[in-house]
Amino acid sequence: MLNDRSSILSLLETRRSAKPRELVGPAPNATELERMLAMAARTPDHGKLHPWRFVTVAEDQRDALAALLHQALTEEKGDATAAHHRKEDDFAHYAGQLVVLVSAPVPDHKIPLWEQELSCGAAGMNLLLAAHALGYVAGWVTEWRAYSERVRSAFCGPGERIAGFIFIGHPAQELEDRPRPSPSDVVRAWQPPRP
Ligand SMILES: Cc1cc2nc3c(=O)[nH]c(=O)nc-3n(C[C@H](O)[C@H](O)[C@H](O)COP(=O)(O)O)c2cc1C
Repeated sequence: MLNDRSSILSLLETRRSAKPRELVGPAPNATELERMLAMAARTPDHGKLHPWRFVTVAEDQRDALAALLHQALTEEKGDATAAHHRKEDDFAHYAGQLVVLVSAPVPDHKIPLWEQELSCGAAGMNLLLAAHALGYVAGWVTEWRAYSERVRSAFCGPGERIAGFIFIGHPAQELEDRPRPSPSDVVRAWQPPRP
């Protein structure tokens, strides 16, 4: 039990992201991926709406993803350079498993949109943790692709949007950490307003 607890603590204290472009394979196999996504779906969610979805992109669909990104770039960024198109091609073929996190809020619901979107963010975070727990690293990116109408409509229904592209694989080299806020940066004791 103690061992279990110390490994959970170590997991929470060491998780960090990888840059998707620096990932290498192998990607999680189908069983591992299913387990990760099941863990990720255990996410706080006011109203049991699960206002998010995970869309998996198969290895043999990467060329189709590249074609979609080229089309979106041509339509939406007419001045895109050849280098930008190459970057999108690289993106579509990054190593690892790609999971597209979709925010799928229930419209006109008594649970506020803000809370539904927070739940989506929590689902993404849970997926990062689940990947780490199974011995992988993950990286969550957005950039213009997440806001492109052409790309959105290829992954989302009406009223939905892309919350992120999450790649899951292994780091090519040991990951560097980034500076983290200390509790004194982000924790404040509440001061009640003076009457
Ligand atoms: C919604 C969202 C979108 C992000 N988009 C990008 C991005 O497009 N490019 C990028 O370099 N990092 C992006 N990040 C940041 C990385 O995913 C990651 O959080 C950061 O590199 C630090 O990772 P760590 O704190 O998990 O180690 C995004 C993070 C979030 C939550």
